[in-house]
Amino acid sequence: MMYAIRPIDQADAAALVDFYARLSPEARQRRFLGGCRGIDLTRARALAGEDGFVATLCDAGPNDGMLIGHGCMPRLDARSAEAAFAVLDRYQGVGIGRALLAAVVRRSRELGITHLIASMFAGNTAIHRLLLAAGPYRYISREGGIDTLEIDVSGPSVTRAAMPKGIRRDGQTPVERGWTADLRRPVATVR
Ligand SMILES: CC(C)(COP(=O)(O)OP(=O)(O)OC[C@H]1O[C@@H](n2cnc3c(N)ncnc32)[C@H](O)[C@@H]1OP(=O)(O)O)[C@@H](O)C(=O)NCCC(=O)NCCS
Repeated sequence: MMYAIRPIDQADAAALVDFYARLSPEARQRRFLGGCRGIDLTRARALAGEDGFVATLCDAGPNDGMLIGHGCMPRLDARSAEAAFAVLDRYQGVGIGRALLAAVVRRSRELGITHLIASMFAGNTAIHRLLLAAGPYRYISREGGIDTLEIDVSGPSVTRAAMPKGIRRDGQTPVERGWTADLRRPVATVR
């Protein structure tokens, strides 16, 4: 299976609606931290107008160019953005999330964004494994089954070999590293 990663474009709005409608209800719930049917065209246009990246299928068949992943990074302030990711269920687990994250981190550095904020269910192993490898992090809050992480992406990438796995597959207990400070400030959730 071949795919490409590229910046999202306004012209992707309709395809983005379709993409989120195709996610399984479970994946949508993990992405939006609650039950929802997807996003409407207005929301899709807003997301497509912000910085972000899509993964598209490279295929000789009729699905060539189909959106199979989305990583968004709406700006929170001059130095931070919120990051959120989704990959179509049948394409998960093959590295597309990691490729989207790499693109988001690269773009963050270009824009002078030093920190990415992300909210996720505490038991969402895949996104923990993905994000905890992106750089030094701290938990902003861990309440109500939702973890909100702040990841410092200003330094060189943490090599995966040099860092502990962020979460154990069995126990799903994130390994705490770095700071323990609990910064209590409201953080928008990308919905
Ligand atoms: C989170 C998500 C975007 C990851 O995308 P992906 O393409 O599957 O991720 P990758 O294949 O690049 O793998 C990234 C890491 O997640 C792990 N992973 C992927 N699927 C997993 C699963 N079902 N269970 C446990 N770990 C999983 C991989 O092993 C990898 O970690 P490792 O390199 O330490 O082994 C994808 O699972 C998804 O769309 N989930 C639903 C939406 C969601 O949860 N969004 C997060 C809230 S913002």
